[in-house]
Amino acid sequence: MTNDLFLRACRRQSVERTPVWMMRQAGRYLPEYRAVRARHDFLTMCKTPELASEVTIQPVEIVGVDAAILFSDILVVPEAMGMHLTMVEAQGPRFSSPIRSAGDLRELKPVDPERQLRFVMDAIAMARRGLNGRVPLIGFSGSPWTLASYMVEGGGSKDFRNIKTMMLDEPALLEQLIDLLTETVRRYCEAQIASGAQAIQIFDTWGGILDPEHYRKFSLDPMFEIVSTMQRGDAPVIVFSKGAAHALGDIAAIGADVVGLDWTVDIASARSLIGDGVALQGNLDPSFLYASPENIRKEVRSILRKFGRGPGHIFNLGHGILPGVPVEHAISMVRSVHEESPEFHR
Ligand code: CP3
Repeated sequence: MTNDLFLRACRRQSVERTPVWMMRQAGRYLPEYRAVRARHDFLTMCKTPELASEVTIQPVEIVGVDAAILFSDILVVPEAMGMHLTMVEAQGPRFSSPIRSAGDLRELKPVDPERQLRFVMDAIAMARRGLNGRVPLIGFSGSPWTLASYMVEGGGSKDFRNIKTMMLDEPALLEQLIDLLTETVRRYCEAQIASGAQAIQIFDTWGGILDPEHYRKFSLDPMFEIVSTMQRGDAPVIVFSKGAAHALGDIAAIGADVVGLDWTVDIASARSLIGDGVALQGNLDPSFLYASPENIRKEVRSILRKFGRGPGHIFNLGHGILPGVPVEHAISMVRSVHEESPEFHR
């Protein structure tokens, strides 16, 4: 592999400079992505390995990131379980019949990822060939809790009324759904690794909407189960639980190689709290990419300085890149990390 900085940083091995990638880097801020997207709808892109691998590689060539993340979506998993998914323009994902009862839960089918999610495995294999060792390829899954949120709410939500009501009024039902997803996610991640994914990120986008006690039971414990039982060879696992700053020490203890940080966390405090047993990923405020390249550079420097010297940092945004960000700003963020970080590794 030509550039294995990302994998070395995940393993807290020494690097010449800090590697950088961006969550949602294969997306709408790139004109080249929009050109492909103009000709195909989103789910068709996910299900066509040629298209998925093409847009997976775009940010490596255009923005210069040190890792590729597979272009796909966390919600192809509930779709494979039999739910009907649509992506509503300007609104986001919708499930026409959300899971609200034991009857709905019984309708869900067990998933063999090698079959129902064959297109993901094929896209991974094709992206690996296209990357040809230039940078590592990251696979991903939603966490059980985050997938359950979409499945029970039927889409995005402001108050998470349905899943929180289920959590209190019918906890056994929610437990069953989470158990089913835990097993499904574990096997899905294993299949991605077997197909060529060199690292896995678990997106726990909605972990932060829970109080600490329910967070542990419905979000953290299932991720612990996945991380501790998954057959993953030497592929590192990144756990990104957005808004869960209260639980950083607990997340670090579940056995992941890397803990993802959103931008509300001070990365220096996170490092001193967690210690050097795991690597940290993050955590520039995604909105900062609207500001001038000079000021982006200052903020990049500030995060590098706060993390401090030594290995174990993967630079990233604190959440996904926003659709309106000028590409030149993303490029200059990546260049700033490349230029400013070597002094922290000497
Ligand atoms: O990071 C990457 O570049 C890889 C591709 C990727 C997408 N979705 C592509 C996408 C990844 C890793 C995801 C994960 C995902 N999907 C999450 C977890 C990460 C996060 O951002 O918190 C979630 C919650 C989803 C569900 C989802 N998919 C939503 C809420 C939306 C609509 C909101 C939006 O940004 O439009 C999507 C659609 C989606 N997924 C797009 C992309 C590029 C935009 C679709 C389009 O082109 O119209």
